[in-house]
Amino acid sequence: MKVGQCDLATLRHSGCAWVTGASSGIGAAVSRRLVRDGWEVAGSARNNKKLEALRSDLGKTFHPYPMDVREIKTVRENFAVIEAAHGPVSLAILNAGVYEVRGARMFDPEAAKIMFETNVLGTINTLGVVLNSMMEQERGQLAVMSSLAGYRGLPNSAGYCASRAATLALAESLREDCRAKGVKVQAITPGFVKTPMTAKNTFPMPFLIEPEVAAAKIMAGLNGNRFEITFPFRLFILMKLLRILPYFAYFPLVRRIVRPGSG
Ligand SMILES: NC(=O)c1ccc[n+]([C@@H]2O[C@H](COP(=O)([O-])OP(=O)(O)OC[C@H]3O[C@@H](n4cnc5c(N)ncnc54)[C@H](OP(=O)(O)O)[C@@H]3O)[C@@H](O)[C@H]2O)c1
Repeated sequence: MKVGQCDLATLRHSGCAWVTGASSGIGAAVSRRLVRDGWEVAGSARNNKKLEALRSDLGKTFHPYPMDVREIKTVRENFAVIEAAHGPVSLAILNAGVYEVRGARMFDPEAAKIMFETNVLGTINTLGVVLNSMMEQERGQLAVMSSLAGYRGLPNSAGYCASRAATLALAESLREDCRAKGVKVQAITPGFVKTPMTAKNTFPMPFLIEPEVAAAKIMAGLNGNRFEITFPFRLFILMKLLRILPYFAYFPLVRRIVRPGSG
């Protein structure tokens, strides 16, 4: 199967969807869309109460599979149960993540470590099991969560930007590796989305969008063949320009846009 032949309707009939970080924000909104589109959805997060609440809301085609993505053994065990119960995972949205804003003055290695363990190693853990299964079946589609914050090292976000740069590179590398095996890999690079994660931000968030809008953009992107599913467009353009600037132009400009050292 070629990438261009991979459509979601075919995948929906050949297996289930797995969404990590499904208990709130973007993951919950995407799960809602998938259920509405007729998917059997396995939803994971640590908080089972929230997953159960979502099940009450979404109905019997949403299946809670609580897990901590940092724990490889739990991930493996749960993944085996998901596939045994609902068939092969043909669509995976590897979205679980955490975020903290901290400037150099408050830099906390423990907080940065948790971001790496969740955003990078957690993605690797979930990617590992799902990729094995998809490569064996020679079909599937997986989307790895990154962020526009992964484009460049932004002030006050050293740990987060680095973790999201890592997941973007991870997906980029896998895209071509998987293509020949009929597995489509995409990266999701949102700007600011109004979720519990960004609720703690005290700075202005340009072009902030609702999670339902983000989910609609993600669904449209999953239905297309572009590698990067990115939104909102205006912030994407701004960050794209920042990304290609040489350092001598980047640092003075970013200093004006983001107040460094405020954390
Ligand atoms: N909101 C934005 O502006 C924005 C922008 C760019 C990228 N993103 C990315 O989008 C993803 C979703 O973020 P969101 O804004 O929707 O935030 P959110 O509402 O806080 O959702 C984060 C989700 O990840 C889960 N999670 C966190 N740590 C986990 C762990 N160790 N194991 C399993 N699940 C875990 C959380 O559930 P539990 O706490 O129950 O585990 C929750 O379901 C994140 O990866 C974030 O980096 C967000």
